[in-house]
Amino acid sequence: MSSRVPHEKALDSTLAFLREGYDFIPRRCEKHGSTIFEARLLMEKTLFLRGEEAARVFYDRERFTREGAAPGRLRKTLFGEGGVQGLEGQAHRVRKQLFLGLMDPDRIQELVDLTRDHWRARLPKWEAAQRVVLFGEMNEIICQGVHDWVGLPLADSELAERTRELTLLIDSAGAIGIHHWKGRAARKRAERRLADVIESVRSQSMTPGDHTFLHQVAWHRDWDDTLLDARVAAVELLNVLRPVVAVSRYIVFAALAMHHYPEERRKLQADKEGGYRACFLEEVRRFYPFFPCLVARTRVPFEWQGVEFPKDRQVVFDLYGTNHDPYVWQDPESFNPDRFTGWEDSGFALVPQGGDTAAGNHRCPGERITLALMLMAVEELTQTIDYQIPDQDLAIPQDRMPTLPRSGLVLSPVRRQ
Ligand code: HEM
Repeated sequence: MSSRVPHEKALDSTLAFLREGYDFIPRRCEKHGSTIFEARLLMEKTLFLRGEEAARVFYDRERFTREGAAPGRLRKTLFGEGGVQGLEGQAHRVRKQLFLGLMDPDRIQELVDLTRDHWRARLPKWEAAQRVVLFGEMNEIICQGVHDWVGLPLADSELAERTRELTLLIDSAGAIGIHHWKGRAARKRAERRLADVIESVRSQSMTPGDHTFLHQVAWHRDWDDTLLDARVAAVELLNVLRPVVAVSRYIVFAALAMHHYPEERRKLQADKEGGYRACFLEEVRRFYPFFPCLVARTRVPFEWQGVEFPKDRQVVFDLYGTNHDPYVWQDPESFNPDRFTGWEDSGFALVPQGGDTAAGNHRCPGERITLALMLMAVEELTQTIDYQIPDQDLAIPQDRMPTLPRSGLVLSPVRRQ
């Protein structure tokens, strides 16, 4: 087969992938002048794809499956075992319903309101502080908001520990060494604790409201009409708690964009209708790195762009590279929200949270939540507080996945407007 697919000469590319991070796939696509190439990851032959057309084929469910596709290091930290990410067919459709209900605008507004209350409650502390690390503060604020929202409010004494646990699940996934192992331990602890919470709901010693995610996941009937195993229900509860907290990264990137491109802040402040804000948020999600790529396996043999894909081949699709693909985006390395004015979403070009549709495929069900929390934060940062960004290390390491400005974005001082 692979006579026609460009391939890496190195025996194995795992270390290069970890070292080069987000740049690994785009660099090689450019080197080979191709949107597809082959390399070995952990010694396994893997096809790497990037771009809008590649996204269309990667999301073809007749050709690809996610069952058993995610590497162990992701399942043991980021995803957990038995969750929606690794399901297909009827099992995926039924489980996904649980999450699609979260896209309801009233429910999203409730989360935004709860989170904004926690934000505003912190302002006196921010004003009194010498410095505020936006990333750390946002993690805690959103952690409080999302726990209230799912029906599992946190005591003040639990906040720091729960926030640490959830952020570890996210940033240990791509880490090597001790940090990765801390993430695995955090997942075990969190799943054990939340499985107990699920049992308490089922035994009625806890009674969260019917409209809460905690109630819904505890009583969810799966494709075979049975309740979820308590541990799997805990995995799905974490599938909401963890990514909602992760929105803090995009909030840091939005604040960074306003810092690096000060005219953006002025345009956002002047934007009465909200049209520019929407474009700005899309550009933040396109421009800044978050999850680098996705993994699937071929279900059947097929040919695409003259390349034969054998059955059961590991395939990696480049999310970051597609968001920066010069064949899709004009001048992709410039930060330009105006590119989204009148933009039509094909479902496969802007893919920071996956492609195709949330209802019909594995695409993230949390995009509206993400955008709503980002919007709330941008409004607060532009309309309710003034702040300075002192000298600090704002570099974004490309070999940390997901990454972040090194300083976490320090604001000092902060004043209410
Ligand atoms: C912080 C911003 C977020 C990013 C960058 C992000 C990114 C992603 C990506 C790349 C996928 C994989 C898509 C695929 O496999 O094709 C995904 C799936 C998923 N996301 Fe998000 N997400 C974010 C926020 C959220 C939020 C707020 C929720 C809360 C509901 C959420 C829940 C999920 C779930 C449950 C899946 C699995 C869907 C499935 O397999 O069908 N995410 N997300």
